[in-house]
Amino acid sequence: MIQLEHLYKSYDEGPESHEVLHDINLSIRPGEVFGILGSSGAGKSTLVRCINLLERPTKGKVIIDGKDVTDATGKKLSALRSSIGMIFQNFSLFQQRTVLRNVTFPLELNRTPREEREQRARRLLTLVGLEEYADRYPSQLSGGQQQRVAIARALANNPRIMLCDEATSALDTTTTVQILDLLRRINRELDVTMVVITHSLAVARNICDRVAMIDGGDIVEMGPTEELFSDPHSDILKALIASDGAQNRRDTNTTDSTTEEEK
Ligand SMILES: Nc1ncnc2c1ncn2[C@@H]1O[C@H](COP(=O)(O)OP(=O)(O)OP(=O)(O)O)[C@@H](O)[C@H]1O
Ligand SMILES: [Mg+2]
Repeated sequence: MIQLEHLYKSYDEGPESHEVLHDINLSIRPGEVFGILGSSGAGKSTLVRCINLLERPTKGKVIIDGKDVTDATGKKLSALRSSIGMIFQNFSLFQQRTVLRNVTFPLELNRTPREEREQRARRLLTLVGLEEYADRYPSQLSGGQQQRVAIARALANNPRIMLCDEATSALDTTTTVQILDLLRRINRELDVTMVVITHSLAVARNICDRVAMIDGGDIVEMGPTEELFSDPHSDILKALIASDGAQNRRDTNTTDSTTEEEK
């Protein structure tokens, strides 16, 4: 369980202080796929980076499995970080390392013996469907394959939680669906709780059990995905749903020039 209680975050403390998150309260249940939806600059990345303390909240609490970790340092902080995997839009792979050595990297940091870390990495590469690619370099892979490597690396330490910051934003529709299927499988089979940042309604619909809509650093609404999307209350979500509908109609019109209304 991930709990954020009365969480505030400001950048640049002092007179220039700029508050990016205001009084965020939320509970993410174990085993859930939880979506954070919002437009650019809304504070999504900041919020998620507070969960693994890549950003320190200015005020409020981060509670993981009942333990207040807000002020964790040293070994406690390292243990927290290794129990939480993270993936990004730009994959963030080490270009000078092979696929295998990207996945072994977190295990090198915690001094797992070489044979064990290679075995683990190969098992994870099999899980993400890349067992044949162990000796290639990231630049020799497609975007979707690179994201699979990043997913395998994020799983190296057996995390209970995975944070996905716009993990599919750089990928085409087909590849996006494949990556979301993989994340869903990891959620179910490995029982990893997922926090998925997206600005895409399609991504949220595809994978998220519940969604929080954030706007200007506030959670403006939150609920089970289908419920929220079928009865939105905030202007921002209403606008997002309307523009998504218009986009879908445009897409349909370009692939099939006869619309339902014309038939
Ligand atoms: N390290 C930082 N120092 C100062 N301001 C920052 C920092 N990181 C983010 N901000 C500001 O905080 C606000 C929220 O940024 P954040 O990256 O959390 O938004 P986001 O919702 O993830 O946006 P996007 O969809 O574009 O990734 C923005 O106004 C941004 O300029
Ligand atoms: Mg962001």
